[in-house]
Amino acid sequence: MRVHIADHPLITHKLTVLRDKSTSSPVFRQLTEELMTLLAYEATRDVRVAECEIETPVMVTNGVKIADPKPLVVPILRAGLGMLEGMTKLVPTAEVGFVGIVRDETTFKPSTYAERLPDDLAGRQCFVLDPMLATGGSLAAAIKFLFDRGATDVTAVCLLGTPEGVQALEALVGDRNVNLVLGAMDDGLNEKGYIVPGLGDAGDRLYGTV
Ligand code: PRP
Ligand code: URA
Repeated sequence: MRVHIADHPLITHKLTVLRDKSTSSPVFRQLTEELMTLLAYEATRDVRVAECEIETPVMVTNGVKIADPKPLVVPILRAGLGMLEGMTKLVPTAEVGFVGIVRDETTFKPSTYAERLPDDLAGRQCFVLDPMLATGGSLAAAIKFLFDRGATDVTAVCLLGTPEGVQALEALVGDRNVNLVLGAMDDGLNEKGYIVPGLGDAGDRLYGTV
């Protein structure tokens, strides 16, 4: 698995405001979207394109367009939904699938409560979005769904990650073609399974404590 950790002052600045507990939900949502757009630039570095011919007002020339089948973007509900718009702004022709996963607050084990994905993902570039890679259980479960449907090219994008989460993903992924793009690599987890220093519960901060 290839891991890319963002290294840009604008990303660090926005993450700092995001982490601040006094940041309101509307600002948190806006920043999550903006951070996703910035990370999407790196995450789509290997997006497949096909050569095409176009006519400019001056002459015929060659260029490239995003190839078929179009990329599939999969936000992990709930918190991953906050990143979706930031990704589709940059890749508006992408299709969107959904996986709903929630982790048990004491065992940290993920359980899946919703899933809407194409049956066959062979040959499809998949982009999985979740702001938090904590123990890695939720993201691993989502990526396993994609593998089980034939996906062989998966990129996961998270705002914050931990060494524990990366290790859990590596155990699942083996030598398969998976990229992980992180806004930052944090120190680790506390006894409640929260990322430290982290930003708290991303879903609650985006949408409230429902
Ligand atoms: C959060 C977060 C990740 C998961 C990360 O979701 O959005 O999906 O926890 O933790 P893990 O790496 O230990 O699995 P949560 O279960 O709180 O659900 P939510 O998005 O509905 O708030
Ligand atoms: N899920 C979150 O939303 N935050 C954490 O710190 C860990 C898991």
